[in-house]
Amino acid sequence: MKKIVVLGSINVDTILNISHLPQPGETMHMQDRSTAGGGKGANQALAAVRAGADTAFISKIGKDHAADFMMKTFEEDGLNLDHVTFSETEGTGKAYILLQDGGQNSILVYGGANADVTVEDVDAAKDVIKDADCIIAQFEVPIPAITEAFKIAKENGVLTFLNPAPAPSRRDIPDELLGLTDIIAPNETEAEIITGVHVDSDESMQAAAKAMHDMGIQTVLITVGSKGSFYSFASGKTGFVKAFKVNAIDTTAAGDTFVGALMAKLNTDMSNIEEAMTYANKSSSITVQTKGAQNSIPYEKQVEL
Ligand code: RIB
Repeated sequence: MKKIVVLGSINVDTILNISHLPQPGETMHMQDRSTAGGGKGANQALAAVRAGADTAFISKIGKDHAADFMMKTFEEDGLNLDHVTFSETEGTGKAYILLQDGGQNSILVYGGANADVTVEDVDAAKDVIKDADCIIAQFEVPIPAITEAFKIAKENGVLTFLNPAPAPSRRDIPDELLGLTDIIAPNETEAEIITGVHVDSDESMQAAAKAMHDMGIQTVLITVGSKGSFYSFASGKTGFVKAFKVNAIDTTAAGDTFVGALMAKLNTDMSNIEEAMTYANKSSSITVQTKGAQNSIPYEKQVEL
């Protein structure tokens, strides 16, 4: 079984259903309001374990009521939680999701306990990282902790996977971290922030991928929403795997599902890239058909190819 470590965030998502984004100065009624488990790290860890990978999670949570229901979900799914610790000062992270008719979302994140993940927390998880096939990280926990985790991984021959979301400005992404990254998976916006290339065509995707290869990254995956996802290896091989057409209700965690499911299925030598991307696309297509993040991420048995 594939061994994955996810270093990342835990958030309580408050979902606000609205017909359109409010204009400056506008007061408007929302159609519905609900709460669900979220956080890019937690979503990706759940996607990986539900796709059959042996998955450990490194994260930080508050000592609050939210933590109880989140930890219960993680336990039920069989995540290794030895390195999910409690913040002494901050509550569990929060996200406010403005969900428009048609499933498109805009997300505001408050870091809380996620911002408390330290280099020392990562060092404490050294043995778990060393023992993994792959480590996955995003940008909802501090970058020094991610850099430390990737250093440990690289020293021990463990694949490093960066989902650069939410993307800070390019100057806030250290070259050192990109140099430690084996696989990167931005969406079009994140790819543009990292490379300066506006991604809106095959040619621009190829150009953005080349720019990331020039930073030392071997494998580049660019996700393009409902169209599908593009891959490019530094060796020159590229391809595009189309998304499944479904009626999207809520796109929250679609990208996270793609990442976790992909890495649960991808061989470490990348030999089955298109097959693993197809599985990941199918998984995401299931996620978008249910409202909420963690509750909508599918189990392997639901993803029949
Ligand atoms: O990627 C979706 C996630 O982004 C949400 O669950 C929210 O918590 C934010 O982290």
